[in-house]
Amino acid sequence: MIQRPRRLRANAAIRNLVSETQVRAEQLVLPLFVREGLESPKPIKGLPGVVQHTKESLHAEIDRALAAGIGGVMVFGIPNHRDADGSESCNPNGVLAEAVRAIREQAGDRLVVIADLCLDEFTSHGHCGVLSPDGSVDNDRTLEIYAQMAVVLAEAGAHMLGASGMMDGQVGAVRTALDAANFKDVSILAYAAKYASAFYGPFRDAVESALEGDRFTYQQDPRNIRESMREIKLDAEEGADIIMVKPALGYLDVVREASQIVDLPIASYIVSGETAMIEAAAAQDLIDRERAILEALASVHRAGAKIICTYWAIEASVLLSNR
Ligand code: PBG
Repeated sequence: MIQRPRRLRANAAIRNLVSETQVRAEQLVLPLFVREGLESPKPIKGLPGVVQHTKESLHAEIDRALAAGIGGVMVFGIPNHRDADGSESCNPNGVLAEAVRAIREQAGDRLVVIADLCLDEFTSHGHCGVLSPDGSVDNDRTLEIYAQMAVVLAEAGAHMLGASGMMDGQVGAVRTALDAANFKDVSILAYAAKYASAFYGPFRDAVESALEGDRFTYQQDPRNIRESMREIKLDAEEGADIIMVKPALGYLDVVREASQIVDLPIASYIVSGETAMIEAAAAQDLIDRERAILEALASVHRAGAKIICTYWAIEASVLLSNR
């Protein structure tokens, strides 16, 4: 036998020498939930250690993020007041804009501050856009609100906006609005391939989602991949700076193909339900939690997403540096 692949697995040093994938802390992005009017941090079911933040607990979490050396944060705001048009989304003193401003004041440019640009936390019906009289999501009127919201979040100091609503033309509309307001350097993380997934369950609790019904008319059908490539190309043409594939673990084929068809950086989001599955299995001692976390991150990275959004961002940074 001449070929013995096991030679390169003989000890940790040689395995490290030939390792193909290095997840780095500075490419991890931590999702953060900030709840208006909260008195103390509120845990989220299924996601140990993840909470809805108060202003104070947000400050402490950003300190931890800075110490861990992660790459960025993705901020979601949960307002007190919701209405049909999601008007709080465009309030310059609303919960999301305030949180973005506070994080920038604290972290400056040491973290990439990404603000979620979507209406679902702000609408009384829970959809990612506003509704037409017949109850369907009105794509084009939603774009007008996204455009306003983009400028509000840029003014608050967001480095990047996460266009996550899956409306047609959203990247172009946001780019045009940002440029017109002279925010030419605020970048767009385009959720080009966002699937209508059952794995968003715990997140809906985290943002106290009011959604009745589903998002099948705007988020993508999990059975498709060619459709994602169409979405990705459109977003790239409209001015996306980074392409997001979401969820991550069930969609590694999409991540791989995305990384091959565009030359933009690819991000992927290990979503709440994917996280909760690993946590639940680990809590029952069915799997080794820390190894499972690192393996999940390596898988997403290996598939082609160098930027990974994960609730484990801070913890994983510590695990990676201790290896
Ligand atoms: C909607 C949004 C969702 C997530 C982030 N932004 C899900 C949804 O469509 O309800 C899910 C994130 C997660 O599950 O971790 N703007």
